[in-house]
Amino acid sequence: MGLTILVIGSGGREHVIAQKFIKSPLVQEVYCAKGNPGMIRDGIQLVDIAEDNHKELIAFAEQNKVDWTFVGPEVPLLNGIVDDFKKAGLKIFGPEKAAAMIEGSKDFAKELMNKYHIPTAMHRTFHELEPAKEYVRMKGAPIVIKADGLAAGKGVVVAESVEEAISALEDMLEGNRFGASGAKVVVEDFLAGEEFSLLAFVRDQEIYPMTIAQDHKRAYENDEGPNTGGMGAYSPVPQIPQELVDEAIAKVLRPAAEGLIKEGCPFTGILYAGLIATEEGAKVIEFNARFGDPETQVVLQRLETDLAGIIDDLLNERIPAIQWKQDGFSLGVVVAANGYPEEYISGSVLPAFSSDCEQRVYYAGVSEKDGKLLSSGGRIYLVEAEGNTLEEAQQNVYQLLDSVDTTGTFYRKDIGAKAMKSAKL
Ligand code: AMP
Ligand code: GLY
Repeated sequence: MGLTILVIGSGGREHVIAQKFIKSPLVQEVYCAKGNPGMIRDGIQLVDIAEDNHKELIAFAEQNKVDWTFVGPEVPLLNGIVDDFKKAGLKIFGPEKAAAMIEGSKDFAKELMNKYHIPTAMHRTFHELEPAKEYVRMKGAPIVIKADGLAAGKGVVVAESVEEAISALEDMLEGNRFGASGAKVVVEDFLAGEEFSLLAFVRDQEIYPMTIAQDHKRAYENDEGPNTGGMGAYSPVPQIPQELVDEAIAKVLRPAAEGLIKEGCPFTGILYAGLIATEEGAKVIEFNARFGDPETQVVLQRLETDLAGIIDDLLNERIPAIQWKQDGFSLGVVVAANGYPEEYISGSVLPAFSSDCEQRVYYAGVSEKDGKLLSSGGRIYLVEAEGNTLEEAQQNVYQLLDSVDTTGTFYRKDIGAKAMKSAKL
């Protein structure tokens, strides 16, 4: 009998994770709570229990003889789903709440980085508006304003001017735009350089780094427009040299994992460092306690080893052997609803992809009506393709997107362009 696995989450990230699990020879059954209707075609079974209903999820896992659970998003981690499952004697992959605070509080993350000498932008934390304004006036622009706590990637303003920075501060500290998460604000120096995401499987002090990826956070081409959850990604990132990645593993991932152990909250799960390659080396702009979305949809295509086997090894005190592809590229483009990340429209009929292309379409904000998929969220789906070169991977994705009806939705046409520009320099 193969493994029975429960995945928590409902986005494109969970779609690719659950798809990798179900294709594994080790796996019998994959459930996803709540999942989305775009996952059904892969044989993933949807479970209609909310992510925050730990009691019912535990009961479901017990009744269905789930061997282990994999947590996709940050919110359940910060709600203590791992703590609760473990208390019930169930196996679950992800950090406990105390360790997930590395993502849940920017202030906690900054303190950890300072204490363990992890390179990051200089910062100050403020609870009150006036001293924050004064600090911003003293520092000048560009400067970065971040709401403490979770804000789905949208609590960050990279201000080009002091006025813009002050209005962001007013928004977060006075207007309470982000609710409780806006009560504290981190003001940090702007870091210039290319951004990349370095993720690793982590079990206490053991670190198994993944191939790096680059996300595209801004809504529109040329990195313009508001920040989003991510509009596309590719992996690997050829303009970031391996020495810099090795340095980031040694100076960022290792001390973070060791620091969390010393703080009494060891981390097991996926640790994600959002980094900027500055002239002084890689510096952290954020930590996440989970896989990235949309990075996962491309990074997992680079994995040669069976994902279910890796997680099973990590949960059962075995050392996983992990292999990454050495050649080629994977690139994914997010299709979002018109209006996203502000108010967006829902209910657009999604195109039907041919069955071989379907395998590389990962759904997020979708619902189903009369056998058709309709948009129901901001980020709707991602189309991924591979290529021997990045250009080829990009052409493969855009050819597919150009060939279907994308009415009511939009996507960036320049995912991967930065890498190709630097390659030609
Ligand atoms: P975060 O939610 O912290 O990942 O921030 C969202 C985006 O804002 C990042 O992906 C970066 O593009 C940008 N950003 C955040 N912090 C900085 C910084 N200190 N310097 C430059 N850009 C930043
Ligand atoms: N793609 C950025 C994130 O998942 O936070």
